Amino acid sequence: METTLTILKPDCVRKQLTGAVIDKIERTGFRIVAMKKTKLTKETAGAFYAVHRERPFFGELVQFMSSGPCVPMILEKENAVEDFRKLIGATDPAEAEEGTIRKLYADSKGENIVHGSDSGDNAQIESSFFFSTEETVRVNN
Ligand code: CMP
Repeated sequence: METTLTILKPDCVRKQLTGAVIDKIERTGFRIVAMKKTKLTKETAGAFYAVHRERPFFGELVQFMSSGPCVPMILEKENAVEDFRKLIGATDPAEAEEGTIRKLYADSKGENIVHGSDSGDNAQIESSFFFSTEETVRVNN
């Protein structure tokens, strides 16, 4: 079993798509280990995406990710990191495969509904950004 970290981004919450996206995630076989609704500040959004701080879109990314509530979740499944990135599709929804979450729901590269960790190591780092060890105990799984 592997875990990955996702964030249902502020556009997902604003468009009232959290239920639809969670339904798709669960139907694909992921189990929710931890979940909460929270609002990032510019500082916390900047810290989460620090790896992108030199990119031209960093300011826009931080502004967007702190623009409203979001829903981070830790998800568990065999091959979770790779399988979740398949489920969400390419960063740019115009390039995402049919049936993927971004193809179905996202408007643009910037406002693309969901985040998914890009490696097992980053999944661990990103999970501990949002959740304490106590919150990730797998009581039912
Ligand atoms: P995410 O998977 O959350 O990780 C980094 C994010 O940067 C990415 O999703 C996009 O939302 C965002 N991003 C990547 N490229 C661009 C871009 N050209 N313009 C705006 N945002 C971008």
